Amino acid sequence: MIPTLTWTLPRPPRSKYKGGFPLYFEQNLYQYLGYPADVLHPFGGRAEIGVRCDLDATLEPDYVCDAHELPFEDEAFDCVVLDPPYSDEEARQLYGTPPLRPGAYTKEAVRVLKRGGWLAVYGDREPRRPTYCNHHSRILVVLRPGHRPRVCMIFQKRKFGMPHYGSESGECMEIELTEGSAA
Ligand SMILES: C[S@@+](CC[C@H](N)C(=O)[O-])C[C@H]1O[C@@H](n2cnc3c(N)ncnc32)[C@H](O)[C@@H]1O
Repeated sequence: MIPTLTWTLPRPPRSKYKGGFPLYFEQNLYQYLGYPADVLHPFGGRAEIGVRCDLDATLEPDYVCDAHELPFEDEAFDCVVLDPPYSDEEARQLYGTPPLRPGAYTKEAVRVLKRGGWLAVYGDREPRRPTYCNHHSRILVVLRPGHRPRVCMIFQKRKFGMPHYGSESGECMEIELTEGSAA
């Protein structure tokens, strides 16, 4: 079972930039996760808290780079927030960015995340559980009547010795993670 919360939040302010987080989402997430020190947004857009990466230099991100190949060392961040375009078509039409490879950008996000750190995956559908991560909780984000709720899944990168729990089917599998083992 994955504990699920619902947050009802206002729309982001009107802007030419489409696809920004709802108002107060980041602040609530930051508080919910216990104020992680180093936060990364590989698909940064106009995110407000943490280090922003984006392919679009006009957004003045901290790093103009590709979320599929992040310029950071392994285990550098306490929290990584993924908010990619929802499809290749949306990527092209809204942002003029190339097709997405979810397996590759998720692997990069997990690589730069510290063990025990948080991976938040925001989108319009339930994401797959990444390797080395446990489900922690799910936040349904509701904006207004007629709007499809978004899902923000919170995963935790396992520390060595931390059992695998919170699987999709609800069972608790006691698999110990030891150095060098795949998850
Ligand atoms: C859904 S928006 C993120 C919005 C952000 N959460 C906010 O609140 O402003 C997706 C962003 O990812 C950027 N993007 C798309 N493909 C990318 C890639 N491969 N690497 C880095 N950024 C990318 C787009 O330019 C766009 O700004």
